[in-house]
Amino acid sequence: MSESERILELRNQLHEHNYHYYIENQPLISDQEFDQLMAELIRLEAAHPEMADANSPTQRVGSDLSNDFPTFEHQRPMLSLANTYSKDEVAEFYERVRQGLGGEEFELCCELKFDGLSISLHYEDGQLVRAVTRGDGVKGDVVTPNVRTIRSIPLKLDVGGDWPKQFEIRGEVLMPWTSFEGLNAERERREEPLFANPRNAASGTLKSKTTAVVAQRRLDAYLYYLLLGEEDLGALPSDTGHYELMQRARNWGFRVSDAMCKVSSLQEVFDFIDHWDEARHSLPVATDGIVLKVNSLRQQRALGMTAKSPRWAIAYKFKAEQQSTVLREVTYQVGRTGVVTPVANMDPVQLAGTVVRRATLHNADFIRQLDLHTGDHVLVEKGGEIIPKIVGVDSAYDGLPRGPRVEFITHCPECGTPLVQADGEAMIYCPNENHCPPQIKGRIEHFVSRRAMGIDSIGPETVDDLYRAGLVRDVADLYQLTPDQINGRDGTRERSAQRTIAGINASRQVPFERVLFALGIRLVGETAARTLARQFGNIDALAAASADDLMRVDGIGERMAQSIRSWFADADNAFLIERLRSQGLQMQISAADDAARSDTLAGKTIVISGVFERHSRDEYKRIIEQHGGTNTGSISKKTSFVLAGANMGPAKLEKARKLGVEIIDENRFLEMLPS
Ligand code: IVH
Repeated sequence: MSESERILELRNQLHEHNYHYYIENQPLISDQEFDQLMAELIRLEAAHPEMADANSPTQRVGSDLSNDFPTFEHQRPMLSLANTYSKDEVAEFYERVRQGLGGEEFELCCELKFDGLSISLHYEDGQLVRAVTRGDGVKGDVVTPNVRTIRSIPLKLDVGGDWPKQFEIRGEVLMPWTSFEGLNAERERREEPLFANPRNAASGTLKSKTTAVVAQRRLDAYLYYLLLGEEDLGALPSDTGHYELMQRARNWGFRVSDAMCKVSSLQEVFDFIDHWDEARHSLPVATDGIVLKVNSLRQQRALGMTAKSPRWAIAYKFKAEQQSTVLREVTYQVGRTGVVTPVANMDPVQLAGTVVRRATLHNADFIRQLDLHTGDHVLVEKGGEIIPKIVGVDSAYDGLPRGPRVEFITHCPECGTPLVQADGEAMIYCPNENHCPPQIKGRIEHFVSRRAMGIDSIGPETVDDLYRAGLVRDVADLYQLTPDQINGRDGTRERSAQRTIAGINASRQVPFERVLFALGIRLVGETAARTLARQFGNIDALAAASADDLMRVDGIGERMAQSIRSWFADADNAFLIERLRSQGLQMQISAADDAARSDTLAGKTIVISGVFERHSRDEYKRIIEQHGGTNTGSISKKTSFVLAGANMGPAKLEKARKLGVEIIDENRFLEMLPS
């Protein structure tokens, strides 16, 4: 594959993973793997400036904006903090601040770094009027009804308090460990995928469309940043700093961490770090480091900001906790796509509050790099994720006699087929797609999952049950199930059997692009499925497309093209398509989707800003695309017009005026399009 193809492929993968991480809250790969893909893309893009794309995943830090909420432009951007990982870097920060202030004395406020998602709360006349997520830092989702369910967030401040008429306070929404564990236990019972960590769970919860769900999940919030208007600031005693402001906020009724304290030497900072590195394990919520802020507001202003983060603050991230234990055995798991993952089985060891017995070993290359032998003392680490990983062999035991070297298995542990490794890929997999049980079951699970056919009433245990009873051997069999075949299996009651059948029937209307994704063709994620559906229009055209035809489509690389070709070349799959078609599944894009296309907006570059009534922002993006236009994020001379809703940010408005870019409201915009 050429480097430019690899760039397109990486972009697709990262878009997909971004989606799973930020919107679905179900990351498919570890943060580390994500960072590696991103690093590779950054490197390749730097070498290929001709491939620049404003919409590449490298051009943003990831956004948690979703389609379902109105957005709001932050009055002041929600910046992130620069991260440090060692005390040396903290000392460098301390020195930078000292020099930046020309040697003047200063105090630092030390705080815990809460590991949730940031929220901005707006109060007017003592009432909570709005709660906005960080979003992309510039604008966020308005999630006020959901935030109102968080009991530690005051909805009304005490009358007579000295709070300003209008202010904004920012902090972190968290899911306490106890709620998190309870939630995952419940999800396990209901056969739903588990949340990887409390941060993802909190974020998923806050984006829920049902306020009652949010209320049940018992979120909490800690506040750490108060933003006042110039006038209110001016009225405060001149020595008021960040710490003092937060103490006021506490008096107004906000939850402000007791850990917060002021220090005036580097040694005290180190003491704070050492204390909390240990003590944090008994806190009710997740923390992943500490935050240092220059306390004086005057000094903060003097130090200012860089484009991304304030110069007066920094985060120090705790190291992931590590333990040494003995590797007893490596077992192998076969996933939905046939990929075989090695799992280390170890002597139980206490790690970051839980007992760990199993950890992932990623792939065969990783085992080889570690030169792993059974009986080795291995280092296990648990970062922000729930699944622990082996990071190395403990060198403290070097020189001792070792057990046999770990050799990756050569045959599938489930079906006995010889395993294969694709060129240039680290993954080893079982090629027996159509007869290897976990692959068959995994494919069915994927097919019924929410983003695919959305048959929610069928979970992994039901799939397993139906498979073992010989009732469902492929996804087409689902459409022939009768209520009595489900009823009574594994104690299932009649009502839920009826619901399952209703869900299966309803899935016949699921649009073609999702059917295509549901088929589980290797490397074809949601984005690619959408592109392919639009490009080819129906399954027959796609099945007939050559690898070259496929590669001509933007975003489809050589490997994906090969994978699609070989999927359709398989006679079993061709037969499957015919059976699904005869069951009435959508095998072409709908007439409505097709008719809605035109080139009315061809050559136009359009910026969307504000909140709309007739369609969501995402729908507008899609409409622009359908009519041949391009949607971009920021206004420039090249912008054809701004599609503006209510609450368009003042900065954008100003910029559009300055550049003479026309502003069009949604009604006028919709009138421009063919009806
Ligand atoms: S202060 C301008 N304080 O960490 C300063 N942030 O990368 C704004 N966070 O987005 C942030 N605990 O979500 C601050 N005590 C704390 C924090 C904290 C957690 C999060 C926050 C922010 C990210 C910084």
